[in-house]
Amino acid sequence: MYPTKILVTGGAGFIGVNFVKMLLSEAPDVTVVNFDLLTYAGNLASLEDSMNDPRHIFVHGDICDRKQVCSTLKKYDIDGIINFAAESHVDRSITGPEIFVDTNIKGTLNLLQCARECEVKRFLQVSTDEVYGSLGKEGMFTETSPIAPNSPYSASKASADHMVRAFQHTFGLDTVITRCSNNYGPYQFPEKMVPLCINNARLEKSIPVYGDGLQVRDWLYVEDHCSAIWKVFKSAEPGSLYNIGGCNEMANIDLVKVILSILGKPESLISFVKDRPGHDRRYAIDASKIMKELDWKPSVTFKQGMEKTVKWYIDNLPWLEKITSGEYRKYYDSMYEDREIKG
Ligand code: NAD
Ligand code: TYD
Repeated sequence: MYPTKILVTGGAGFIGVNFVKMLLSEAPDVTVVNFDLLTYAGNLASLEDSMNDPRHIFVHGDICDRKQVCSTLKKYDIDGIINFAAESHVDRSITGPEIFVDTNIKGTLNLLQCARECEVKRFLQVSTDEVYGSLGKEGMFTETSPIAPNSPYSASKASADHMVRAFQHTFGLDTVITRCSNNYGPYQFPEKMVPLCINNARLEKSIPVYGDGLQVRDWLYVEDHCSAIWKVFKSAEPGSLYNIGGCNEMANIDLVKVILSILGKPESLISFVKDRPGHDRRYAIDASKIMKELDWKPSVTFKQGMEKTVKWYIDNLPWLEKITSGEYRKYYDSMYEDREIKG
């Protein structure tokens, strides 16, 4: 039997929110303690419909705070941890890498130590395909690809993965790691490409495409990512590692064109801007291991997932408008003012 009293960290962020909602609707035997610091990326408004669920307990907490994590584990008799909490945006890691070390590396180490101390039965680390670095035109990342992170964000996630592995190997803590491709779907903070593009397009604002726009990503619908994590958590062997991908490789420029066409907006909104420093050219993920061993596969095609996603943002404009007023505007101006290519 798998753990049923689960600490979900970062459960007020994009993927965490989707995961918590999935557990509450599909796993009646599970109680979720949602542990989140509510940084700029955490949003309780996304959990409005789950706050009164007796199986969902929200704790405003910091994964770097050992006393607080341990007391929470003890108070709720937690037997499993799923760690989503992180600083997650590559561009922010370029302008300010320190917090990525604090949250992603030291925070994960702290959780691992608390998990050991409180004899937690399973620890799942949510990681990223970005730890493998960048690919050329051919090939895909497998679970045995070398780790070669290129951004401060991916370097911090790779370090955390190494620490998780070390705790399994050295202390026998039961850990599993998942590495997924780019997620898209409801509740994503509009600093990331997909919601930023939807938001700008609906307002008929220009859409900043870095460099030549020919960088390739694999796109994974967030609910499919959540179902994969849940399968891994429930049934993977201790110490195992799984890649999770959507089988949807696409160049950024084509992604933007799909979104514009769903919204019925013109391609003239596309604006090529200065590239991200060290921008990884191509990610592609081989997810055959999880498909074969755990019988997982994505439930939607890219077209279905993106249509659902665009519809969700348009149907939830108050959610989007609340985020994109205030602090977000300052972020947007500071991140994009130097990128504009003046012609
Ligand atoms: P997000 O930025 O939307 O959410 C992160 C959440 O973590 C926020 O709710 C934030 O408040 C919380 N948090 C930050 N610091 C914390 C701390 N010290 N203590 C407690 N909570 C803290 O991120 P996301 O997109 O939901 O990503 C979740 C996880 O998945 C991350 O570990 C990320 O590296 C990984 N991942 C994301 C993607 C993607 O496409 N979004 C792809 C691969 C991997
Ligand atoms: P992003 O959503 O930031 O995810 P990641 O960097 O983790 O892949 O970006 C997805 C791709 O889109 C990436 O190649 C960078 C590119 N991008 C733009 O071209 N313009 C933008 O404004 C942003 C945010 C991203």
